[in-house]
Parts: sequence; structure tokens; C-alpha cells
Amino acid sequence: FHQRQPVARQSAPQHNNAITFKGINHLFSDCGDRMVLVQIKTSGQFIHNALLQLRIDTSQASFYTNHFTHLNKLMNTLLSELLDITIPVVQAPMGGAAGPRLAAAVSNAGGLGTLPVWTSDLETTRALVRETRTLTDKPFAVNLNMEFPQEERLEACLEEGAPAVSFFWQDSSGLVDRAKAGGATVMHTVASTEDARYAVDSGVDILIAQGWEAGGHVRGSVATMALVPAVVDVAGGKPVIAAGGISDGRGIAAGLC
Ligand SMILES: Cc1cc2nc3c(=O)[nH]c(=O)nc-3n(C[C@H](O)[C@H](O)[C@H](O)COP(=O)(O)O)c2cc1C
Repeated sequence: FHQRQPVARQSAPQHNNAITFKGINHLFSDCGDRMVLVQIKTSGQFIHNALLQLRIDTSQASFYTNHFTHLNKLMNTLLSELLDITIPVVQAPMGGAAGPRLAAAVSNAGGLGTLPVWTSDLETTRALVRETRTLTDKPFAVNLNMEFPQEERLEACLEEGAPAVSFFWQDSSGLVDRAKAGGATVMHTVASTEDARYAVDSGVDILIAQGWEAGGHVRGSVATMALVPAVVDVAGGKPVIAAGGISDGRGIAAGLC
């Protein structure tokens, strides 16, 4: 973690190291070209990370505390609060490719797993949501593509206890109130400021700004990092998730800014 330059040693804080690092559990770090998830353990004199083989000397505790506190603040977003997740990363709901095991694995790791139900029949839809719930007790989303009628599938997902719903393609405004009344947090994918204003007016909780770099069905023609700030400007304080072409820690950092 930032080991390319020697780190100036600072005097150890007077208080207990475990307290110093309390609450700092997960963070992303950019290590060269690789993005790595760092898990910080708070017990013992040394903090050891299996992936990076980091050894943090307690004499550098305040240096690391400052860094980790800063990163922890970045990771503690309104999105994390609304979705009750610890890492503000959402798995792309890839129709035909993602299922309960991937969604649950992402949710268990602290992000938000997403389960695309596409055009599954109602029994299959229920079974997919149930299976995901058996694999994780953390929040996850179901993804409904509004290219198809989704009223009945939405009802099935809500009855099975899906904690969040992400809508994609076309107009979801007719289903937003029902999803919220059913207890779900509602997200909608947008690709322009016009889409974003419409989604905000329809009452969605969270916007997903999908740039043209995105894989799968792509709605718009504006690049992700140009689209995101434009969507933020019209989002009225609602969280905006960046989607499209983000593949390393620097992309995540840009999205968080
Ligand atoms: C194979 C594939 C299938 C996708 N299917 C869906 C889908 O069913 N519903 C949806 O909302 N988004 C779908 N997407 C788009 C993603 O939600 C997301 O916008 C996109 O993957 C982000 O761009 P990236 O692939 O560059 O990370 C799909 C993407 C891929 C790559």
C-alpha cells in the first residue's frame, strides 16, 4: 500500500492501536495496475494482510490511521447507507450470465450483488430470489428489464423479500411506488440528464449512470466520466452509481469523487 516511496515514520499514538483502527474494516487500494481488496484486522501488534503481505509497524500507526480514515470516509457513502452495504460497489446485473451464487458472493463481500431475472417465469423468479436469500443474509438487488412487462415479476420478487430493485431500459415510473411500498430500495439506470430528471421525478432512490463504454445493453452515447457529474447535477442529492469501463482502483476512485 503506497510503498513505492519510503514512508516517514511518525511517533506512535498514545492510545491503544486496536481503538485507533476501530471501524476500519475494508478499503480498496490501488497497487500498481492491480486493484486489491485490503482487509484490516485490528487485533495484535501487527496488522497483517494476506493478499499484500503488508506489515504495519505500530510506530507508523498515526500515518496509516490518517490514510485509512480518509479512505474509510470515501467508502462510507450515502449509497452505502441507503443500501446497507460496507463497500460502495455494485455488481453489474448481467442477464444470462449472473445468478444467485455471484450475487450472493458480492453481497457477502460487502458490495451489492444483483440478480437479473430477465424474462424468467414466476416460479423461476421466486426460486432465484429464494436461492440468493439462502446464500446471503446481506442486501442484494433484483434487476428488471423494462423492455418486458414486469409487474408480476416485481410482485414475486417483493413477496420473496428482495431488498432492492434495479430497473433498466425504458420507463419504470409506473412500478417505482409499488417497489418502494413493498420495502425495496429502487434504482434505475440512466444514460442522459433527461433520463435522470425523469427517474428522479418518478421517485427512484438511486440513479445508475451508464456510459457508452458499458458492456451489455447500452442506452446512451456519453462517456461514463462525462456523464456521471452531469447526472449528479440533476440528481437532487440522490446517490449516483457510475457504470461503464471501470476496471481498476483508479476508476473506482474517480467514481467516488
Ligand atoms: C454481459 C452483460 C450483460 C448485461 N445485462 C444487463 C442486464 O440484464 N440488466 C442491466 O441492467 N444491465 C446489464 N448489463 C449492463 C451492466 O448493468 C452495466 O451497465 C455494465 O456492465 C457496466 O459497464 P462495464 O461492463 O464496462 O463495467 C450487462 C452487461 C454485460 C457486460
